[in-house]
Amino acid sequence: MRIAVGCDHIVTEIKNEVVKYLQKKGIEVIDCGTYDKERTHYPIYGKRVGEKVALKEADLGIVLCGTGVGITNAANKIKGIRCVLTQDVSVVKYAREVLNANVLGFGGRVSGIGMIEDLIDTFLETEYCPTEERDVYIEKMDQL
Ligand code: RB5
Repeated sequence: MRIAVGCDHIVTEIKNEVVKYLQKKGIEVIDCGTYDKERTHYPIYGKRVGEKVALKEADLGIVLCGTGVGITNAANKIKGIRCVLTQDVSVVKYAREVLNANVLGFGGRVSGIGMIEDLIDTFLETEYCPTEERDVYIEKMDQL
Protein backbone atom coordinates (compact mmCIF):
# COMPACT_ATOMS: atom_id res chain seq x y z
CA MET A 1 0.00 0.00 0.00
CA ARG A 2 1.17 3.50 -0.83
CA ILE A 3 -0.02 6.54 1.16
CA ALA A 4 0.48 10.22 0.36
CA VAL A 5 0.96 12.44 3.41
CA GLY A 6 0.89 16.24 3.62
CA CYS A 7 0.88 18.97 6.23
CA ASP A 8 1.55 22.67 6.76
CA HIS A 9 4.39 24.16 8.80
CA ILE A 10 2.39 24.16 12.04
CA VAL A 11 2.49 20.37 12.36
CA THR A 12 5.61 19.21 10.48
CA GLU A 13 6.94 17.28 13.48
CA ILE A 14 3.67 15.42 13.92
CA LYS A 15 3.62 14.65 10.18
CA ASN A 16 7.10 13.19 10.55
CA GLU A 17 5.80 10.99 13.38
CA VAL A 18 2.94 9.87 11.16
CA VAL A 19 5.36 9.03 8.31
CA LYS A 20 7.48 6.93 10.69
CA TYR A 21 4.39 5.21 12.08
CA LEU A 22 3.24 4.25 8.58
CA GLN A 23 6.71 3.10 7.49
CA LYS A 24 6.97 0.91 10.58
CA LYS A 25 3.82 -0.82 9.36
CA GLY A 26 5.57 -1.52 6.06
CA ILE A 27 3.60 1.10 4.15
CA GLU A 28 5.24 3.04 1.34
CA VAL A 29 4.87 6.77 2.03
CA ILE A 30 4.89 9.63 -0.46
CA ASP A 31 5.81 12.60 1.71
CA CYS A 32 4.27 15.60 -0.05
CA GLY A 33 5.69 18.06 2.51
CA THR A 34 5.99 20.51 3.96
CA TYR A 35 9.38 19.44 5.27
CA ASP A 36 10.30 22.15 7.79
CA LYS A 37 8.75 24.84 9.97
CA GLU A 38 9.07 27.69 7.50
CA ARG A 39 5.73 29.44 7.07
CA THR A 40 3.80 28.07 4.11
CA HIS A 41 0.18 27.52 3.04
CA TYR A 42 -1.95 24.44 3.71
CA PRO A 43 -3.78 24.51 0.30
CA ILE A 44 -0.51 23.56 -1.43
CA TYR A 45 -0.20 20.31 0.51
CA GLY A 46 -3.90 19.42 0.54
CA LYS A 47 -3.83 19.74 -3.25
CA ARG A 48 -0.64 17.68 -3.60
CA VAL A 49 -2.02 14.81 -1.55
CA GLY A 50 -5.42 15.00 -3.26
CA GLU A 51 -3.82 14.83 -6.68
CA LYS A 52 -1.67 11.84 -5.77
CA VAL A 53 -4.77 9.94 -4.68
CA ALA A 54 -6.98 11.15 -7.55
CA LEU A 55 -4.31 10.15 -10.08
CA LYS A 56 -3.95 6.77 -8.33
CA GLU A 57 -0.28 7.39 -7.60
CA ALA A 58 -1.26 6.73 -3.97
CA ASP A 59 -3.93 4.36 -2.64
CA LEU A 60 -4.98 6.70 0.15
CA GLY A 61 -3.97 10.05 1.63
CA ILE A 62 -3.46 11.60 5.05
CA VAL A 63 -3.46 15.37 5.65
CA LEU A 64 -2.99 17.49 8.74
CA CYS A 65 -2.70 21.13 9.66
CA GLY A 66 -3.30 22.90 12.99
CA THR A 67 -7.02 22.26 13.15
CA GLY A 68 -7.28 20.00 10.12
CA VAL A 69 -9.93 22.29 8.67
CA GLY A 70 -7.88 24.19 6.10
CA ILE A 71 -6.01 21.26 4.59
CA THR A 72 -9.04 18.94 4.44
CA ASN A 73 -11.02 21.63 2.64
CA ALA A 74 -8.15 21.95 0.18
CA ALA A 75 -7.98 18.18 -0.41
CA ASN A 76 -11.73 18.04 -0.96
CA LYS A 77 -11.44 20.59 -3.79
CA ILE A 78 -9.72 17.92 -5.90
CA LYS A 79 -12.13 15.93 -8.05
CA GLY A 80 -12.52 12.39 -6.80
CA ILE A 81 -11.36 13.18 -3.27
CA ARG A 82 -13.53 12.30 -0.30
CA CYS A 83 -11.62 13.57 2.70
CA VAL A 84 -12.88 13.02 6.25
CA LEU A 85 -11.91 15.36 9.10
CA THR A 86 -12.56 13.93 12.54
CA GLN A 87 -11.22 13.08 15.99
CA ASP A 88 -13.51 10.10 16.31
CA VAL A 89 -12.64 6.54 15.21
CA SER A 90 -16.31 5.65 14.69
CA VAL A 91 -16.58 8.49 12.16
CA VAL A 92 -13.45 7.23 10.36
CA LYS A 93 -14.95 3.73 10.23
CA TYR A 94 -18.21 5.06 8.77
CA ALA A 95 -16.40 7.32 6.33
CA ARG A 96 -14.39 4.37 4.94
CA GLU A 97 -17.10 1.72 5.06
CA VAL A 98 -20.04 3.75 3.76
CA LEU A 99 -18.66 6.89 2.08
CA ASN A 100 -15.49 5.37 0.66
CA ALA A 101 -13.35 8.20 2.06
CA ASN A 102 -9.94 8.16 0.40
CA VAL A 103 -8.17 10.83 2.48
CA LEU A 104 -8.03 11.08 6.28
CA GLY A 105 -7.53 14.49 7.89
CA PHE A 106 -7.00 15.64 11.44
CA GLY A 107 -5.71 18.59 13.41
CA GLY A 108 -2.20 18.09 14.72
CA ARG A 109 -2.82 20.81 17.31
CA VAL A 110 -6.09 19.36 18.54
CA SER A 111 -5.56 15.57 18.52
CA GLY A 112 -2.91 13.72 20.54
CA ILE A 113 -0.54 11.23 18.89
CA GLY A 114 -2.33 8.24 20.48
CA MET A 115 -5.64 9.33 19.00
CA ILE A 116 -3.97 10.07 15.66
CA GLU A 117 -2.56 6.53 15.55
CA ASP A 118 -6.00 5.08 16.35
CA LEU A 119 -7.57 7.20 13.58
CA ILE A 120 -4.93 5.98 11.12
CA ASP A 121 -5.30 2.32 12.15
CA THR A 122 -9.06 2.48 11.69
CA PHE A 123 -8.66 4.27 8.35
CA LEU A 124 -6.28 1.58 7.07
CA GLU A 125 -8.13 -1.41 8.49
CA THR A 126 -11.62 -0.49 7.29
CA GLU A 127 -12.65 -1.18 3.72
CA TYR A 128 -15.43 0.28 1.64
CA CYS A 129 -18.46 -2.04 1.65
CA PRO A 130 -20.23 -1.20 -1.58
CA THR A 131 -23.99 -1.25 -2.05
CA GLU A 132 -25.92 0.03 -5.05
CA GLU A 133 -27.16 3.00 -3.02
CA ARG A 134 -23.70 3.89 -1.67
CA ASP A 135 -22.21 3.69 -5.15
CA VAL A 136 -24.85 6.13 -6.43
CA TYR A 137 -24.13 8.65 -3.65
CA ILE A 138 -20.40 8.44 -4.28
CA GLU A 139 -20.82 8.81 -8.02
CA LYS A 140 -22.97 11.92 -7.47
CA MET A 141 -20.33 13.34 -5.10
CA ASP A 142 -17.60 12.72 -7.65
CA GLN A 143 -19.61 14.52 -10.32
CA LEU A 144 -19.81 17.78 -8.30
C1 RB5 B 1 -2.03 27.98 10.13
O1 RB5 B 1 -1.93 28.38 8.82
C2 RB5 B 1 -3.38 27.37 10.48
O2 RB5 B 1 -4.40 28.20 10.02
C3 RB5 B 1 -3.55 25.99 9.85
O3 RB5 B 1 -2.56 25.12 10.30
C4 RB5 B 1 -4.86 25.31 10.16
O4 RB5 B 1 -5.11 25.24 11.52
C5 RB5 B 1 -6.03 25.71 9.40
O5 RB5 B 1 -7.09 25.06 9.45
